[in-house]
Amino acid sequence: MRPILPRAIRLLVAIPLMGGMTATRPVDNGLARTPPMGWNSWNKFGCDVSAQLIRGVADAMVANGMRDAGYQYVTIDDCWQVSRDANGTIVADPQRFPDGIKALADYIHAKGLKFGIYTDAGRKTCEGRPGSYGYEVADARTYASWDVDYVKVDWCNAEGLHAPTQYAKIRDALAGSGRRIVFSICEWGSNRPWEWAPAVGNLWRTTGDISDRWSSVLTLVDLSSQYWHVAEPGSWNDPDMLEVGNGGMTNTEYRSHFSLWAMMAAPLIAGNDVRAMMGTSPAAAATRDILLNQEVIAVDQDSLGVQGKIVEASPSELQVWAKPLADGSRAVLLFNRASVPSSITAEWGSVGLETKKARVRDLWAHTESSSVDSRYAATVPAHGVVMLRVWPIPN
Ligand code: GLA
Repeated sequence: MRPILPRAIRLLVAIPLMGGMTATRPVDNGLARTPPMGWNSWNKFGCDVSAQLIRGVADAMVANGMRDAGYQYVTIDDCWQVSRDANGTIVADPQRFPDGIKALADYIHAKGLKFGIYTDAGRKTCEGRPGSYGYEVADARTYASWDVDYVKVDWCNAEGLHAPTQYAKIRDALAGSGRRIVFSICEWGSNRPWEWAPAVGNLWRTTGDISDRWSSVLTLVDLSSQYWHVAEPGSWNDPDMLEVGNGGMTNTEYRSHFSLWAMMAAPLIAGNDVRAMMGTSPAAAATRDILLNQEVIAVDQDSLGVQGKIVEASPSELQVWAKPLADGSRAVLLFNRASVPSSITAEWGSVGLETKKARVRDLWAHTESSSVDSRYAATVPAHGVVMLRVWPIPN
C-alpha cells in the first residue's frame, strides 16, 4: 500500500514540473508527521474574526476536550489583515486585534495550543486584503516574529502567476524565517498540486471550498480519494476543513464526513463554533460525539500515514474502504451513498488481510467481536457509515 515510487524518486519527478524554478529543496521541516488537527475560523465565521473570538475558541478547545483529543492549531483565516505599513510590513486590523497578533499567539501558546494564520500567494486575498506576492520573505519573517506555527496560503488574485514557483518561494521564505511553520497550500487542486506540492508544502487542497451540504462532501471525497498514493507523513491531501456541527447535514451525514476524512488521512480542521459544543443540547452532544471520537481520530492520526482508499464498490453507491494501520490492523469503512439503508459486506481478502479470522471493533458503536470469520456484513443507514478496526488473528 506504500506509494509505488519512493519519495526521493518522486521528488526528482516533481521538480522539473516546477517549470524554471531553481530552488529544489523538498519540504523538509519535520512537521505534520500526521495530518494536522485544529480549528479554523472560515467555515463558521468568514470575515467576522477578532482576538476576542479566537481567544474564546482557544478557551473552549481546552474546556471541551478538543485540545486533549489532538486538535492543536488555532488558525485565523482571511480578514485579519488590513494594510501594509511604510516598511511593507503586514498590519493586522487594529479594531479587531487591538493588542496585535503576537499577543494573541502568546495567549494561544499559554493554553498549550498552536497558532496559525492565513495569507494569499497572489496580490490580494480572496476577500481583497493584502496578499504576499512580492512580500514572501518579509511576511515569513513577520510570522516568525509573531511565533506563528502554521500558515495557510490561498491562491486568489494570482492571475499570470505560476503556482509551483510562487508556493516554492513561500516554502523557501518560511524555511529561512528561523521558525518551523507548517505550510498549508490552498490552490483548490487547480494546478495539479498532487504532482508538485509534496516537495513544497505539508498539505495541499485537492478541491474547491467545502459547503455545509451532503452533496459537497461527496464531491470532495470523489476528488481527494483519487490521490491516495501521494499522501505520506509530512505531506497530505487536503479535501478542505470540516463542517461538523454547522447544522447543514444530519448527524448521520456528519459522522460519515468525519469518518471519510479519517479514512483519507485528511487534516482534521474543525470549522464550527466550538464554544457552543459544551452545552447540553442534543446538537452539542452529537457534535462532541463526532469530533471527539478518539478511535476515529486514531485512524486519521495513525503513524503509518497511509491514505485509505476504496477497495470495493459494486454497486458504486455501496463502498468498502480500507486503510492499513501501523499495528498491522486495518481501518475499514462501509459507506452507503444511497438514499435507502443497504447491506454492505467487507471481505477480509479485499481489505488486505490474509487471515481467516479477525477481531473487529465498531468505532462508532464502541463494541467488539472477538473472532469474525472471513467477512463482516452490516446494514448501513442511508448516507451513513459503519466504521471498523480489524485485527487479523493468526491462522
Ligand atoms: C478561499 C479558501 C477558503 C477561505 C477563503 C477566504 O475560498 O479556499 O478556504 O480561506 O478563501 O477568503
